[in-house]
Amino acid sequence: MRLLVAGGAGFIGSNYVRHRLAEHPDDGVVVLDKLTYAGRRENLADLDESRFELIEADIADRDAARAAVESCDAVVNFAAESHVDRSIEAPGEFITTDVYGTYVLLEAARDAGVRHLQISTDEVYGDLEMGTASEESSLNPSSPYSASKAGGDLLVSAFARTYGAEALIVRASNNYGPRQHPEKLIPLCILNALAGDPLPVYGDGMQVRNWLYVEDCCAAIDTVLERGEPGEVYNVGGPDELPNLEVVRRILALTDRDESLISYVKDRPGHDRRYSLSAARLESLGWNAAVRFDEGIERTVTWYRENGWWWEPIRSGEYREYYERRYGKALK
Ligand code: NAD
Ligand code: TYD
Repeated sequence: MRLLVAGGAGFIGSNYVRHRLAEHPDDGVVVLDKLTYAGRRENLADLDESRFELIEADIADRDAARAAVESCDAVVNFAAESHVDRSIEAPGEFITTDVYGTYVLLEAARDAGVRHLQISTDEVYGDLEMGTASEESSLNPSSPYSASKAGGDLLVSAFARTYGAEALIVRASNNYGPRQHPEKLIPLCILNALAGDPLPVYGDGMQVRNWLYVEDCCAAIDTVLERGEPGEVYNVGGPDELPNLEVVRRILALTDRDESLISYVKDRPGHDRRYSLSAARLESLGWNAAVRFDEGIERTVTWYRENGWWWEPIRSGEYREYYERRYGKALK
């Protein structure tokens, strides 16, 4: 199979491309990616070029999307603006890519008669005081990011129902692991701890996230791509729910730092208190998470320690300016 991976130069997408090429030795992958600040050629640098091609283009560009889809047998769409804080600062690009871009790609897949697997998030269910979201839970997004992801999801479901398109959705909980941009909590805290910079904790730090190691997420996506039913949604909940403060403390312990580095900062507006996602439907297809948080966070800290070449350019570029604007402090 020749698979189109939109957004394959980002965090989960690039881990997925690696997973796909390793698990399916006869397959090829085409990545279509706009290479925004979050998408990097470095993420795909070590891959076998005879089995892999990168097209630099926008999913919202109809001609580019069509040409890429027509050369492939299925589409997995990771392409999105993905950071809640940036969506609060500037929501426009989220709507253009996560809603309109999804529509353009979906239409191209429908016309070509190929499967479209949309990668979405537990954030579309909104926050839960108690209990766990299932695929039947109602959508109740809080941020411009999660609202735009919910918009994309609704189009996918509508295309499946109205046109009989072979379209389906995976909704994953918070991923972590190698090659995640340091705007997100875990890599931000690892890199700040290694540098001796403060670790910014929003509000009281008791917001709960359901952590999923990225390789487990990639295996889940492959399971749904191959065995999922068109029109269905499959939740991928991670094996561990933890308050942010606990995550930060584990990172401090693994980097030999103490709690004096924790800095409580102003809370995020509209901040979701808790996410929790069941994976029962996916488990019935044979998937199970293999990596618990203790092991995954250790692997992740080790990866960032050993791969300064990957993150040093980020910490000295656009992200440095973003960080100063957002946290009112310079990075060391
Ligand atoms: P990311 O920000 O690291 O990567 C996004 C990728 O999409 C980048 O390579 C970027 O260049 C590309 N992109 C952005 N706009 C584009 C456009 N208009 N056309 C083509 N490419 C474009 O994001 P991520 O964390 O890897 O997330 C991937 C997907 O998974 C997203 O759809 C996100 O909503 C979803 N998701 C992420 C998480 C998480 O914890 N990171 C959890 C659940 C779901
Ligand atoms: P993040 O990694 O941005 O993912 P999401 O908002 O999509 O869940 O944030 C994870 C949690 O960490 C969330 O509750 C917000 C919190 N957080 C901080 O406390 N400090 C920070 O500097 C960042 C970026 C996030």
